[in-house]
Amino acid sequence: MEFDIAVLGGDGIGPEVTEQSVKVLKSLENLFGHRFNVEEGDVGGASIDKHGTPVKAEVLDMASSADAVLFGAVGGPKWDDPSASMRPEDAILQLRAHLGVFANIRPVKVYPWLADSSVIKASVIKDVDLVMVRELTGGLYYGLPKERIETPQGISAVDTMRYSDVEINRILRVGFELAMSRQKKLASVDKANVLECSRLWRQLATQMSEDYPEVQLEHVLVDSCAMQLIQQPTRFDVIVAGNTFGDILTDEASVLASSMGMLPSASLSDVPVAGRRIPGFYEPIHGTAPDIAGKGVANPIGSILCMAMMLRYSLSLTEEAACVERAVDQVLQSGHRTADVAGGGAAISTAEMGDHVIAALGPAE
Ligand code: IPM
Ligand code: MN
Repeated sequence: MEFDIAVLGGDGIGPEVTEQSVKVLKSLENLFGHRFNVEEGDVGGASIDKHGTPVKAEVLDMASSADAVLFGAVGGPKWDDPSASMRPEDAILQLRAHLGVFANIRPVKVYPWLADSSVIKASVIKDVDLVMVRELTGGLYYGLPKERIETPQGISAVDTMRYSDVEINRILRVGFELAMSRQKKLASVDKANVLECSRLWRQLATQMSEDYPEVQLEHVLVDSCAMQLIQQPTRFDVIVAGNTFGDILTDEASVLASSMGMLPSASLSDVPVAGRRIPGFYEPIHGTAPDIAGKGVANPIGSILCMAMMLRYSLSLTEEAACVERAVDQVLQSGHRTADVAGGGAAISTAEMGDHVIAALGPAE
């Protein structure tokens, strides 16, 4: 089969890690007889410098006409001035809204071979296997008004948390469906003791649970969820949260998996269903890591696992996705480590990690 993939590397380590996942993707062409047409575009700070905008309309169009988008990361100290009129991060926010990818799926799995590399005790994180489902195109990130108000008394700023029942229901549906395909446990995160949006969220979650009698639903306040994620992470299976809470909790959850460099994410415009192709946007959860950018030492596994999620959700290539995931398992099990997970021991480069994954690709035994 033939597919069009938009590749938007962005800034910092973004292009370096994305190059590896494209390399692995391309090597699947011969193995499985597919063709992946890769089209690249500028985003983020790189695009601000070249074109005076974080993302051009043509790039938005290219992204929406592709079968899937592989994204790197955007941002960096060069563009960090808080008074700047445009920011590299606007590229992600515009792409998410343009593609309508409201469901951000972030699996957090602790590889047994890496349990000792986390700052958290191995006994606590052993067997962690959870999925965070984060609402991505609403809430505090997009609600209006969003502005600064200058008065003779001083300056104030306002952001708005707004959620409609339609927006809440469709993300809850993703949470329930994913729970059905896993351990049938769903933790719905809110701050219903304070926020009106959260009270609506909780009410709708309770209503929807009637459609899923097999799923054990619990409501967890976001502050308590943050605590339990560190104290007893294995109690979670699927966690569903709004945009801001999901952003914060996924960074926290990534600590369980030793390094942010390990974790992928998929952003989809519909409920994932096995065998159905859904356009998607795939970005590792790490940022641009300006301190190591250009040195060829970044961990490409987050990006490579993104590419695997893309194969599964957007291209319906389940076997190919499993093949990439098995290869990553095998490479880690054989002890190959980039610096972020090497614990000061011998580390390999970004490109070497990509090569090892390619060498480990192959049919299931
Ligand atoms: C993420 C990032 C983004 C977000 C930023 C870069 C806009 O932190 O993907 O989690 O907050 O959504
Ligand atoms: Mn984040």
